[in-house]
Order: sequence, then C-alpha cells, then structure tokens
Amino acid sequence: MFKAILYFTSLIVVASSMVISPKRPNNLATCSFPNGTDTAMHFYNCDGTYAITVQSARALDANNNTLYPIDPRKPITIELKATNNGVQYNDNKNNVTIYEYKNDWVTNQCQWNSVPTFNLLDAIDGCDYAHNCPLTTGALDLRLPLDLSKFSAIINLLASGTPYQLLIEMHNYNQNDQQHEVIACVVAQIRFEETN
Ligand SMILES: *[C@@H]1O[C@H](CO)[C@@H](O)[C@H](O)[C@H]1NC(C)=O
Ligand SMILES: *[C@@H]1O[C@H](CO)[C@@H](O)[C@H](O)[C@H]1NC(C)=O
Ligand SMILES: *[C@@H]1O[C@H](CO)[C@@H](O)[C@H](O)[C@H]1NC(C)=O
Repeated sequence: MFKAILYFTSLIVVASSMVISPKRPNNLATCSFPNGTDTAMHFYNCDGTYAITVQSARALDANNNTLYPIDPRKPITIELKATNNGVQYNDNKNNVTIYEYKNDWVTNQCQWNSVPTFNLLDAIDGCDYAHNCPLTTGALDLRLPLDLSKFSAIINLLASGTPYQLLIEMHNYNQNDQQHEVIACVVAQIRFEETN
C-alpha cells in the first residue's frame, strides 16, 4: 500500500513537472533584429499624450560620433531632441523595463519578453543619472551623459546577439507635485555589444 502511494506520488510529481516545464523544442529560429536595430537604434514615443515627446535620440562616443551598437559598460552621451509642452520639470524619476526579443516556444513567434530587473531600474533619478535637470519648456536639445556601470548586475545578464528594448517612463517629481504623473514615455530598441 505504502509502495503504491509512493509510486503514484512520484508519477504525479513527474507528470506535473512535465506540465510546468516541458522540454523546449531545440529547433527554434533565432529572431532577427527588428526595426533595423542591427545597424541603428530605433525609438518611438509610447501611445498616449505626455508632456514631453522625443523627436530624435542618438548615442555618442567621446568624439561625438554616433555609437552603435551600444556598450552599456562604458559611459556614453545621449543626444536627445525633444519638445516639452508641459511645465518646467526640476526633478524627475524614471522607471525602466527591459525586454528581450525571443522566439516564444508556444506560439513559435518572436516577441518581447520582460527581463527581471528586481526593481533596480525603478525610480531612477534623472537629475543624478542623466544630468537632465531642469527640463525647461519648449524645444529641448539635450546631451545627457550616462554611466550605467551602477547597473552592472543587470547589464551582465544582457547578451550580445539578442535584440533588447527599453521602456522608459519619466515621472514628474516637482516639489509640489503629488501625482508623479508620467511626463514622457519612450521605447528604445537597441543592440548591445561589449567592446574592448
Ligand atoms: C517597430 O517599431 C514600431 C514603431 O516605430 C513599433 O510599433 C513596432 O512594435 C516595432 N516592432 C517591434 C517588433 O518591436
Ligand atoms: C561635441 O559636441 C558638443 C556640442 O556640439 C561640443 O560642445 C563638444 O566640444 C564636442 N566634443 C568634441 C570632442 O568634439
Ligand atoms: C515606478 O517605480 C516606483 C518605485 O519602485 C514605484 O513606486 C512605481 O509604482 C513605479 N511606477 C510605475 C508606473 O511602474
């Protein structure tokens, strides 16, 4: 009797582990870089109406040359042309979500899946990290020095051959603002590559 219970228990365990983590087929096609991201960064403003919209974005190296693919371990400068139709923002905080473009083994289609970032990319202070304060009204022509080495725990998980997407939501943290509403939302699709 005891043996029978043990046997059925082990059957259930084996069966349920098959349901929870079936073997992935190993013939999945790799996903090509979408939106020309093999050769250039692609970005767009999220759907919705936000105070700030971005018209162009480029990563630059120390000699003002366009840098691509991007090595997130090295300090870079982001050149950003944007329009602020809101008020002046003296303080902003940003939530960043990272997605990787991968073949989904259920649908057999390439799709964006979020990468766990353990809340490390929540509430990033734009003034500290992107030196973007204040954001004045009207046309913005920004050069934002960016050093992501603090985020090496996440960056070390990123692979060279995989397309990535950053969803960046900027929140208003002006002194008298209680809502912390989203003032800008941008998706950047990028190829990362470690350089020497
Ligand atoms: C390519 O970019 C457009 C916006 O320019 C976006 O709507 C679309 O979802 C992107 N494609 C992929 C596969 O991410
Ligand atoms: C890069 O461009 C900025 C703005 O045009 C300029 O101030 C800076 O001196 C340039 N740096 C180099 C190394 O050319
Ligand atoms: C952004 O991150 C902060 C800090 O973790 C969190 O409180 C907030 O809910 C996040 N906002 C969104 C829109 O995800």
